[in-house]
Amino acid sequence: MTNTSLFIPVILGTTRQGRQSEHVAKFIVEQIATRDDVETELIDIRKIAIATNDAGESIKDPQFSATVDRADGLIIVAPEYNHGYPGLLKHVLDSCLKEYIHKAVGLCGVSAGPFGGTRVIQNLLPVMRELGLMTIFYDLNFGNVQRLFDESGNLIDKQTYIRRLDKFMNELVWMSTVLRYGRQKVNLENKHSTEVNLHANKPCPEMATRMGTDAIDTFIQASTDTQSNKVETS
Ligand SMILES: Cc1cc2nc3c(=O)[nH]c(=O)nc-3n(C[C@H](O)[C@H](O)[C@H](O)COP(=O)(O)O)c2cc1C
Repeated sequence: MTNTSLFIPVILGTTRQGRQSEHVAKFIVEQIATRDDVETELIDIRKIAIATNDAGESIKDPQFSATVDRADGLIIVAPEYNHGYPGLLKHVLDSCLKEYIHKAVGLCGVSAGPFGGTRVIQNLLPVMRELGLMTIFYDLNFGNVQRLFDESGNLIDKQTYIRRLDKFMNELVWMSTVLRYGRQKVNLENKHSTEVNLHANKPCPEMATRMGTDAIDTFIQASTDTQSNKVETS
């Protein structure tokens, strides 16, 4: 590793017993470990003790928050459940916000069916955008996943997936590098884009403090002030 290495952790997005996605996530982590330009680690959402009687930033797990904050990019391994994403994955993702802004994300779909989680990926795209993450335009797809790994969890056709992963990683590294440069060097003085997305009516204490209003009123206040040019949104 060099001091310019990127940090790109891999989120294993299901808690299901017997999850095949674990093999996929571990394969990705192992392969990234062979690169000298990226540092990685596995974030298993099963290990994040997150409350289920609340939602959003108030139930942030400090370790998950710190890891995402340090990250230059993310890889999300998402199994397809009823054409969507696992609810607990979304619940964990929703617990952070500013940690994601202007960082890259690569999506990996996993499915029992032949389409390799393309539908879960499609459903994740608007979520990524709302979180402030930039998606790359190359995905990883592990279709018919129950046939891809042997009993020890090793990929049977490893070379094919190594080739695809290399292409995916090269794109993710490019995007993460550019965005890191932008976060560190591009300062447009008050004309930078919004730090949190004003389009969503989500309580945001930081924004509320800056605007001198209650968190719950942030959306309404932001819209009003934008019209009267008091808030720069672009
Ligand atoms: C609740 C649930 C819904 C599922 N829905 C789909 C689906 O819509 N399409 C599909 O191809 N596989 C579906 N599957 C199968 C998973 O894709 C399969 O279990 C695969 O191994 C990836 O999930 P896993 O990591 O939990 O094993 C579903 C599995 C579960 C548990």
